[in-house]
Amino acid sequence: MSSKHLPGWQTRAVHAGETPDPATGATTPNIVMSTTYAADPSVQFSIADQEGAAAAGYVYTRWGNPTIQQLAKKLAALEGARRCVLFGSGMAAISALFLHLLKSGDHVLMSDVTYAGASELANEILPKMGIHIDRVDMSDLEAVEKAIQPETRLVYLETPCNPLCRLTDIAEVSRLAKRVGAWVAVDSTFATPLATRPIELGADFVIHSLTKFLGGHGDAIGGALLGPKQELLALQQNALVRLGGIISPFNAWLILRGLATFPLRMKAHETNALIVAQWLEAHPKVKRVIYPGLVSHPQHELAKRQMSNFSGMLTFQVEDGPGTAQVLAKHLQVFHYAVSLGHHKSLLFYMDTASLLQSSFWLTEIQEASYRVFAGEGIFRVSIGIEDASDLCADLEQALSNV
Ligand SMILES: Cc1ncc(COP(=O)(O)O)c(C=O)c1O
Repeated sequence: MSSKHLPGWQTRAVHAGETPDPATGATTPNIVMSTTYAADPSVQFSIADQEGAAAAGYVYTRWGNPTIQQLAKKLAALEGARRCVLFGSGMAAISALFLHLLKSGDHVLMSDVTYAGASELANEILPKMGIHIDRVDMSDLEAVEKAIQPETRLVYLETPCNPLCRLTDIAEVSRLAKRVGAWVAVDSTFATPLATRPIELGADFVIHSLTKFLGGHGDAIGGALLGPKQELLALQQNALVRLGGIISPFNAWLILRGLATFPLRMKAHETNALIVAQWLEAHPKVKRVIYPGLVSHPQHELAKRQMSNFSGMLTFQVEDGPGTAQVLAKHLQVFHYAVSLGHHKSLLFYMDTASLLQSSFWLTEIQEASYRVFAGEGIFRVSIGIEDASDLCADLEQALSNV
């Protein structure tokens, strides 16, 4: 290929980071489970010089591992990032970013709705370390502008956010954050790099729970943090060598394997999700459907601008959420009534607004009102898989007929 030609997404998903194994010629990556490597005696035990150590070869798997390295390179190529560091889970990537960037006295502006684990980290753990957190509805740019302070060090958001599927304009928030020199981190798990590449829009860091669409098969937990090279080298030393939350090479290998079909899967997730969303919107027992690809999504124009794939996540509301959850859990045959998302299989789970606000979000009255605009009393969060869309609609039809 000419040096000017940039490979497409499917080619990157198949080839980036991988070469035939130099020892055996194997064309599919081997899993390297070794914890330790015959070392060059010039490598010191100190890990102060990560780059020097990497150049000298592998030493110990917590510092670096060939299978993990292959996955990191593939993800960096898909996201358009300079560097990628991998973790044992999405939450390990998020907590590593916070612990690395922040110190006592720093201010963080965080979206008021994020994955519940990240919200609980911000509500319950970071304040004990002297880190000040303000939460804001990141879809409201005026509110974001007012809430950013000269001492804001990090702006943290998800788009579409879990569980609401509410969007944030990454380019605009990044522009506001840059005025005060704050870092911007985007958890892009719902969107994936096939839909949105936050770094191209001005963000500094991107987070993925690899457990979801990127791994894609519901069989491996992992997390990724992508961003600028120098900062991630320092972070790698702090977060992996000193805090230790590395991904298992076996999980890295499973995710590497899953990634080969990632763009193909995302197209199927999107096609199916649009069919199911439109079908649900026309169903008499369904009050409201939220899917970025629907014209009725309150931010459909932003979705069209910022997402080149509307992904597989949607929500819907019914009259009696808890009662319907009981019926669906009993009668669904293709969908699994289960948490998590982004798997090849379709998953669905009811999220009650009052209990989620109490356990995880702790929103102010104004924030609660804007949460309820998207969620009412509660939502079914639906992750649409890659089965036949007609079977998904038929499954929902037969299960809802029992309500
Ligand atoms: C948007 C988002 N970010 C992060 C996480 C955490 O990922 P993990 O379960 O891999 O720790 C999740 C998990 O559901 C999520 O939905």
